[in-house]
Amino acid sequence: MNLPNLKQARLRTTKKVEYLAAANLKSTKYTNKKYYIRTYGCQMNVHDSEEIKGILENLGFIPTTDLEQADIVILNTCSIRENAHDKVFGFLGRLKHLKKNNPNLIICVGGCMPQTDSVANLLKTKYPFVNIVFGTHNINDLGKMILKEDQKQQIEVYSIEGNVYEHMDYVRDSKISAWVNIMYGCDKFCTYCIVPYTRGKQRSRKMEDILEEVTSLKKAGYLEITLLGQNVNAYGKDLDFGYNFATLLENVAKTGIKRIRFVTSHPWDFTDKMIDVIAKYENIMPYIHLPLQSGSSRLLKLMGRRYTKEEYIALYNKIKAHIPNVSITTDIIVGFPNETNEDFEETLEVVNKCKFDGAFTFIYSPREGTPAALIKDTLSKKTKIDRLHQLNELINSYSLAHNQAYLGKTEEVLVLGPSEKGSNKVYGYTKTMKLVNIDGAGEDIGKLILVTITAAKSFSLDGKKVIFTKN
Ligand code: SAH
Ligand code: SF4
Ligand code: F3S
Repeated sequence: MNLPNLKQARLRTTKKVEYLAAANLKSTKYTNKKYYIRTYGCQMNVHDSEEIKGILENLGFIPTTDLEQADIVILNTCSIRENAHDKVFGFLGRLKHLKKNNPNLIICVGGCMPQTDSVANLLKTKYPFVNIVFGTHNINDLGKMILKEDQKQQIEVYSIEGNVYEHMDYVRDSKISAWVNIMYGCDKFCTYCIVPYTRGKQRSRKMEDILEEVTSLKKAGYLEITLLGQNVNAYGKDLDFGYNFATLLENVAKTGIKRIRFVTSHPWDFTDKMIDVIAKYENIMPYIHLPLQSGSSRLLKLMGRRYTKEEYIALYNKIKAHIPNVSITTDIIVGFPNETNEDFEETLEVVNKCKFDGAFTFIYSPREGTPAALIKDTLSKKTKIDRLHQLNELINSYSLAHNQAYLGKTEEVLVLGPSEKGSNKVYGYTKTMKLVNIDGAGEDIGKLILVTITAAKSFSLDGKKVIFTKN
């Protein structure tokens, strides 16, 4: 099977990216009006929503979690799979109803979905009650668009990448752990993936700007930062400054912030230098998310992943051998067009070899405009679902085995907040990114504490805080 030639879909104009200071528009027009925001998709969107909250609060809005109370609703959307679209259109149905009772409600749809022409057109023709439509490249304009609001639908979506803005007024969800963008966009063009079309070409932030942000987060009391990018390992490749992700990581480690994490790592750009740096610095957490996507080299080629099954396993083993106690998780897609039984068996084989700590697994979803969407697929839905279940069972058995190995051990945990598992519990993560629910009081939130692991499940651990007594 050959991949359809989709040169056309890959032709995009590239704009010269400028590095600018954000405008941070301020106004009192909406003082004490309430905003409700719903975020779909990946960490990139979660962090974009922190920017959106900053924009709204600069206009005077205050947050609400009660939709009925809202004066403005923002949906920050995701396009990665069809079900992400369905959820947004479902919610828009509810908002249409709400607007009948509250005609002044301002409804905004932003993020990755409007970046696709068909969605932008659909919002224009079928959802005229949506007041403002914006994309991923002009979040910065949202404040201006809201101030201009006069019930006439405004659609402003740019098809080419935007500038890199610095010094944005984020309203961060946590005071303990912060997201730090190190780059925007993606140049990899995996054949199934919409991200390069919704997020544009890769644009790295300058190292000094990233370091300045990390240093000010540390000063503000943050104990953890997560460096964000669709493929952080490719950081700097688009800049002509002679630094790369390993250099950045090393410099971030030297700021002395307690915990450093990063997502996502594409296996193709994973260098030995990166492995050395991760192993060398105590404050770089021994946790790597290393998406496999498929264990079949035939499918990896059709996916445009640029590594074979053997290369992935070799990299995996190298990381395991050099970084003590590292935990590795992955992403796997089942049901790529015409995936054979043999292809799927190879995926299971790689899972059996790597014994991942955990995995996000997905059924392939054709995305309009991507090369893979043009491949005629003969695989039945039932086969895809059966494969997903089989894969999940295997993955969960390894997750459980990994978690059981923690029983009785004492681990350093960064406590992030109250646990959903009970009013006298808090939750946090080990260095290796294991979720731990801990018996204990709220006074530990925001602290690094030692915890003895008392129970292990597939998706979490239970633990007890170690109390030091003087004798
Ligand atoms: N930049 C990251 C992944 C971002 S998207 C990387 O390359 O590793 C997160 C995950 O969604 C991907 O790793 C992939 O497993 C899944 N995904 C992306 N496009 C998909 C599609 N069309 N159908 C199903 N899953 C998809
Ligand atoms: Fe998508 Fe591939 Fe880029 Fe990840 S690396 S965002 S899967 S195109
Ligand atoms: Fe979704 Fe856009 Fe992230 S498509 S996964 S929100 S980059």
